[in-house]
Amino acid sequence: MSERLRGSVLVTGAAGMLGSQLLLTAPDGIEAVGTDLVAAPAGSPHVAHVGVDLTRLDAVNALFDRVAPVAVIHPAAYTAVDKAEEEEDLARRVNALAAENVARAAAERDLPMVMVSTDFVFDGTKRTPYRPDEPTSPLGVYGRTKLEGEQLAQAAHSHGLAILRTQWLYGPRGAHFPGTMLRLAAERDSLRVVSDQVGSPTSTIELAPALWDALLLGARGVYHAACEGEASWFDLAAATLELAGSKTVVEPCTTAEFPRPAPRPAYSVLDCSTLTELRGHPFKPWRDALGDFLALERA
Ligand SMILES: NC(=O)c1ccc[n+]([C@@H]2O[C@H](COP(=O)([O-])OP(=O)(O)OC[C@H]3O[C@@H](n4cnc5c(N)ncnc54)[C@H](OP(=O)(O)O)[C@@H]3O)[C@@H](O)[C@H]2O)c1
Repeated sequence: MSERLRGSVLVTGAAGMLGSQLLLTAPDGIEAVGTDLVAAPAGSPHVAHVGVDLTRLDAVNALFDRVAPVAVIHPAAYTAVDKAEEEEDLARRVNALAAENVARAAAERDLPMVMVSTDFVFDGTKRTPYRPDEPTSPLGVYGRTKLEGEQLAQAAHSHGLAILRTQWLYGPRGAHFPGTMLRLAAERDSLRVVSDQVGSPTSTIELAPALWDALLLGARGVYHAACEGEASWFDLAAATLELAGSKTVVEPCTTAEFPRPAPRPAYSVLDCSTLTELRGHPFKPWRDALGDFLALERA
């Protein structure tokens, strides 16, 4: 399968947290060609990539013609969960229309495609991990538009693409929760963090190779992709500060004490067993992956 995929693979969202990690981890024989809304020339803090607005089908087709990729990985998205509640149209254009455009361009050229989706397609009322085939029921605009993107891309890509839903991302680039906790801990003696939302914190260092594997192994259909185990945001904050050697104390609080514009699933742990089976091994436990990430940040 990897023989067939020698050549350029188009990676969208190249300036983003996950896209940037995909560009840095392309397997042997593959040249990852990045694209994002704004171009990043060589020498900028981002790996060089071309600027294209994926909500424009003509621009997407021109990009595919120029790069002539052998496959595409599509993590680009509108990811501002709270802001999406007041920018529904923009969120829909990026999360649904752009996904459809990329899928259509890939299908017309007979290219395999892997796209990235989210645990926010679920309402979080379960208390056991969500399997990929379970009913979806997003609570807010972000989850709703991402689900629309899944559906439109599946309809546009007649050969069948792979959709990997993930959650609670952090990594070497971009703004994320562990980074925020470390910054706040440097300023404060104690922090209060919600303990009634549970998921699986996932490092892009672990996720990027899984996306490459899904592409190389010819995955089709919906998969779940997250680090092993479950944690609340409070657990993640406490582990981050403990592993970083911070003396700041973390105290639990409830979501009701910190209301946000967008509702969030209370429980969104993902059952990743089908991806584990495909790859032959599971993701690292979330705490081990967090430790690796923090060690890398210190180095
Ligand atoms: N972060 C998480 O915790 C999380 C959790 C579950 C699932 N996911 C999914 O994982 C994927 C990657 O997330 P991430 O956190 O790496 O996202 P991110 O850092 O926000 O990166 C997304 C990139 O897409 C770009 N983009 C936005 N609109 C675009 C357009 N019209 N045309 C081209 N590019 C556009 C963004 O550019 P601008 O910044 O300039 O808008 C950004 O660079 C997404 O599909 C997301 O839904 C993320």
